[in-house]
Amino acid sequence: MKKKDHDAIRLDRLLSALALGTRTQVQNLIRSGRITVNQKAVFKPESHVNASDAVALDGQALDTRLSRHIMLNKPCGVLTAARDPRQPTVIDLLPPIFESLGCMPVGRLDKDTEGLLLLTTDGTLAHQILSPRRQVWKTYRAVVDGPLSGEDVLAFERGLALSDFTALPARLTILRSSGTEAEALVDVCEGKYHQVRRMFEARGRIVTALKRLAIGPISLDESLAVGEYRELTEAELRAIRQAVSGEKYAE
Ligand code: URA
Repeated sequence: MKKKDHDAIRLDRLLSALALGTRTQVQNLIRSGRITVNQKAVFKPESHVNASDAVALDGQALDTRLSRHIMLNKPCGVLTAARDPRQPTVIDLLPPIFESLGCMPVGRLDKDTEGLLLLTTDGTLAHQILSPRRQVWKTYRAVVDGPLSGEDVLAFERGLALSDFTALPARLTILRSSGTEAEALVDVCEGKYHQVRRMFEARGRIVTALKRLAIGPISLDESLAVGEYRELTEAELRAIRQAVSGEKYAE
């Protein structure tokens, strides 16, 4: 076991953060000798460990990472909220450890929007991803109830005036358009309530399906079935950290 250092954490605190029990329960667990650190039994709850120590319970290695970052392929019909007494939430789709560690959604998708949702234990990173001044563009695929034209592309580009604010310039790319339906990609760098739906509404169109495909450099992993999640790779995490670090203009 390492000496106490900057990223060291008390063993009892670590184990309760990992949802192994209350502080008292994990203290008893430690005193009973069932916890080893680097293959040696540790009996003192106040011992410190750090990220490189191998911690095990009854010989089974524990995943001691406290920072976790995941992508979820959010289904329609599920709320982006921590908990709800009546309706399923994105937290219900994940193993309980993520909630214990304080993994929170990065912004919201509407109940009827599907696709990429990031969840992280890093509140600062979440805030940065959401901040319009960080210019982290979010890409959506929308299906609407009528045709779209070059006029709509220009209107999105100019910044649409909605009832309570003017949207920042956005990109609209029309994928197909007929008399009764159109499909388009929309890139926005802000995330106000119902933003994409309201932007189309301002152009006289109703969104009938909406899916988020990307957040900055992170694209939805298409191998994830709806409702499935996975941890971000090191490369994805590095890329999103890099994307938020380039501030484009001051607050
Ligand atoms: N814009 C919307 O209107 N809804 C979402 O869920 C996300 C962006």
